[in-house]
Amino acid sequence: MSVEKIPSIPRMPLPQGKAGDARIHPNLVSLLAPQSFEAEQIKLLKAQILYRTAGVIPSPMAVTSALPGEGKSFISANLAVSIAQELDRHVLLIDCDLRKPGIHSLFGFADPPGLSEFLTQGTALSDLLLRTRERCLSILPAGALPPNPSELLSSRKMADLLIEVSARYKDRVIILDTPPVAMTAEGNTLAQFVEAVLLVVKHNGTPKDQLKELVKRMGTEKILGAVLNNVDKYAQSYGRYRKYQEKYYGGA
Ligand SMILES: Nc1ncnc2c1ncn2[C@@H]1O[C@H](COP(=O)(O)OP(=O)(O)OP(=O)(O)O)[C@@H](O)[C@H]1O
Ligand SMILES: [Mg+2]
Repeated sequence: MSVEKIPSIPRMPLPQGKAGDARIHPNLVSLLAPQSFEAEQIKLLKAQILYRTAGVIPSPMAVTSALPGEGKSFISANLAVSIAQELDRHVLLIDCDLRKPGIHSLFGFADPPGLSEFLTQGTALSDLLLRTRERCLSILPAGALPPNPSELLSSRKMADLLIEVSARYKDRVIILDTPPVAMTAEGNTLAQFVEAVLLVVKHNGTPKDQLKELVKRMGTEKILGAVLNNVDKYAQSYGRYRKYQEKYYGGA
């Protein structure tokens, strides 16, 4: 059982509290500083995905990992921005982490209703979708924390939602930010509802046995590849390239 490796994303010394728009989180580098070295790393990841899929971003695509804090939300949000920016495709980013959601705050929204209201109260999708500063990107935030996230995310209604939005908006790329698979039942179920899965592996963070277990639980057919995140072994060359990039682009 093997999974293709996708070139890594370095640990980035992300800007601290100097976001251009006070509400948008500084870690949303692809939105705040699209020409930066950091955003460039996300573009490389996008190029790698396209290379594997003959130029078409698979949709729906889930971004997942074994454990918390490995970079799923960071990568899914920046990747969604990057696809919307450059490929001129409409993108819908869905926060499927109904335990510890983070997409809304990355995009500067306080506490909006979202997926959980859709699944529990039947709120219309059109009332829940949020537009972002990126013209072609909308988000469906997680909404209020429900008592039964596994049940909701594994429900027929969740599967139908993905089928419906894929059918209704044929040209739209749907990206799912998901909860950590090793800690929750729903991470695995969500993978069954999507076309492809991008695994995030934290450099020096994800234990090998957890990764093996994750691949075993998901099966290899849908896994696009594994991106090694937070790599620090490039720290030196990273500094050098950043300088080069600043000179080249005049900073970001
Ligand atoms: N390559 C990176 N460089 C710098 N910071 C990063 C990188 N990847 C992730 N981070 C930061 O690490 C923290 C954890 O990342 P994130 O929230 O994306 O993880 P997660 O896998 O979604 O966690 P959870 O399972 O708890 O939702 C965030 O503050 C994020 O901005
Ligand atoms: Mg997350």
